[in-house]
Amino acid sequence: MPPPLFSERLELAAVLTAVGCSRMFVETTLTKWGATPVIDDALLVVSELVTNSVKATGVTTPDPNWAELGKLNLISVRLLGLEQSIMIEVWDVESRTPVAQSADFDAESGRGLSLVEAVTSRWGSRPAWPGKVVWAELPLQPHPEE
Ligand SMILES: Nc1ncnc2c1ncn2[C@@H]1O[C@H](COP(=O)(O)OP(=O)(O)OP(=O)(O)O)[C@@H](O)[C@H]1O
Ligand SMILES: [Mg+2]
Repeated sequence: MPPPLFSERLELAAVLTAVGCSRMFVETTLTKWGATPVIDDALLVVSELVTNSVKATGVTTPDPNWAELGKLNLISVRLLGLEQSIMIEVWDVESRTPVAQSADFDAESGRGLSLVEAVTSRWGSRPAWPGKVVWAELPLQPHPEE
């Protein structure tokens, strides 16, 4: 991967409010970079990836009490502005990597990564210490054959 032209990063506690914070971060950063055409897809991707990270490593009760918040894990979101794409990366401390389930759009869950796959050119994960990073790439220009 060539060196990014732009890079911004946000650290979050692994609670459900991280999802809204990550959306604000993505919208503000991509607006600043002039990458407005991909904002809607980037918001979908970051919502799904951060929600998954909270479910895997954090507190998912909507109104957690003070004691539950005492030992929260961290989630980190990084946006990279590349020549022809935006890369969205989400770190969490769980080393198990996600696997997209076969798309059954009537199912109540198991659709998030299928949606990520549908709107991105590629996605995947790699180990980090501790845990892993899940990444997804959004092209800035549609492919000529599309
Ligand atoms: N960050 C993660 N760490 C560990 N496992 C993950 C992570 N993200 C996803 N997974 C695993 O991959 C599965 C599929 O994720 P996906 O987002 O497609 O569905 P879901 O989160 O179960 O449901 P939905 O997103 O539709 O609410 C999850 O159920 C979970 O087991
Ligand atoms: Mg999900």
